Amino acid sequence: MQVILLDKNKALVSLWKKGLESFKYVSFHTGTLEDLPREMLGTNAAVVSPGNSFGFLGGGFDLAIQSFFGGKDFEKFFKKQIGQFYKPVGEATIVDLDHWARNGIRYIVHIPTVVAPTRKIFDAERPIETGYQLVFNAMWSALVHTPKEVESLIVPGLGTGYLGVPEAVCSKSMVFALKMFSAGKIMSVELRNVLIMHFLGFRYEGFFPATYKEECAKLGIDLDKLKHFDVCEHPVTNLLPNGHLSI
Ligand code: ADP
Ligand code: NA
Ligand code: NA
Repeated sequence: MQVILLDKNKALVSLWKKGLESFKYVSFHTGTLEDLPREMLGTNAAVVSPGNSFGFLGGGFDLAIQSFFGGKDFEKFFKKQIGQFYKPVGEATIVDLDHWARNGIRYIVHIPTVVAPTRKIFDAERPIETGYQLVFNAMWSALVHTPKEVESLIVPGLGTGYLGVPEAVCSKSMVFALKMFSAGKIMSVELRNVLIMHFLGFRYEGFFPATYKEECAKLGIDLDKLKHFDVCEHPVTNLLPNGHLSI
């Protein structure tokens, strides 16, 4: 699956590029859905909506989605697909766009990043809970739940609009989620879980695989850097050095 990271925010796009330079399956677009070249998409594309818990498409990137697919009538259709149940933050809902599909985009992967856009969520005193975890979990949820037949997944900045998550926090979390998603090819599920745990600010040796030391050595992961990893201070290359995932 190709991932297209798209945002009108230039600073965010350049941070994504820096973090994912050698990733062949990720491409970048500064702009919006309307100006995304059709040939980047293939036939089965999906777009992530960093939405709210009720499926309104009234602001931020959701508003761009609403206008792109058909305005207020489209929002009505979309809310009906979201259904009668409140969607907790981070829960993925796949909406098949059916006859509303446009330019090869056939699905919306709806991930609420907030219950309702009443206030800024990011708090510089609690950046892990209100920034890194929130964005990583949203990105992870999108990657894991996107239907298998999707060839390209379009993802805007998550949390960088109404939520007020700084570009650097968002890009670090999205970059690491993408790296971990593709890391299934080069490491055990258990070691990948250990790395994710540390990124999110947890270290519980009871969840470590028996062979983690050998596996870390093979991948060039420094055990001391792993042990003391602090997402606010350290680059994600402290968890997984560059060079393994340039597929
Ligand atoms: P959140 O509620 O998660 O903060 P927003 O939808 O408010 O989500 O913003 C998410 C991202 O979408 C931001 O980085 C913002 O720059 C980007 N964005 C908003 N509108 C557009 C648009 N029309 N085209 C491209 N990017 C957009
Ligand atoms: Na949102
Ligand atoms: Na939004």
